[in-house]
Amino acid sequence: MSRSDLVYYPVTGSTNRVMREYMDVAWEGFTVVAGEQTCGRGRMGRSFLSPKGGLYMSVLLKPEKDSFSLITAAAAVAVSNVLKERFGVKCGIKWVNDLLLDGKKVCGILAESVFDTNGSPKAVILGIGIDMAYPEDGFPDEIKDIAGALGVNLTADEKLDLAEEISRVIVDLYPHPEKIVPAYRKRSAVIGKDIFVIRNGVSVPARAVDIDGECGLVADFGMHTEVLRTGEISIRIKD
Ligand code: BTN
Repeated sequence: MSRSDLVYYPVTGSTNRVMREYMDVAWEGFTVVAGEQTCGRGRMGRSFLSPKGGLYMSVLLKPEKDSFSLITAAAAVAVSNVLKERFGVKCGIKWVNDLLLDGKKVCGILAESVFDTNGSPKAVILGIGIDMAYPEDGFPDEIKDIAGALGVNLTADEKLDLAEEISRVIVDLYPHPEKIVPAYRKRSAVIGKDIFVIRNGVSVPARAVDIDGECGLVADFGMHTEVLRTGEISIRIKD
């Protein structure tokens, strides 16, 4: 990876959206970076607050057939490793795609598959938003209890440098489940914790027991144990 694999927008709507304009001509690892987003997108149709202190990036991946499933987990491990090396912070992974620092969310990941005309997946746009600096006006009331930041102010050039390293680590890591799974388990912020599993709007108490060999979350509901896969499930760690 080099700087010619990245493009920088001081402000844009959504880097995942911008990537759709590049993806037919761009290559594996190509990365769109923004200093601020006006329409940041999160999982489950939610918006993602993207003020100017953050780093917002989308990486284009063109995986082999069997390398799609662990992309989000690989991204969580990669970001957590790079942030630890660069800034000495130890982020935990909240299954499946959030990074927590001192219990507060500092990074969200949104992987969007792109399909060919036959309906087969052909690429993934991997969006990552990291709260580097605290927003100038603080976090809005709705998220101020759950959102955090690393407390680091970066110039545009430093953001590009960080994004380049994150993309490089992801591209190297995501085809290797044997490296992703143990690292993901080690960084898990949920194993051993009481959680709520939220499915179709219904919230059920459980205990997070383990991360399985495919980065599924093994949850003990008391009467039965279930392995949760990605999809329309979210969890909340009990206070
Ligand atoms: C989530 O926490 O629900 C996922 C948030 C993903 C946000 C990133 S920021 C870069 C990329 N562009 C977007 O619009 N979303 C992703």
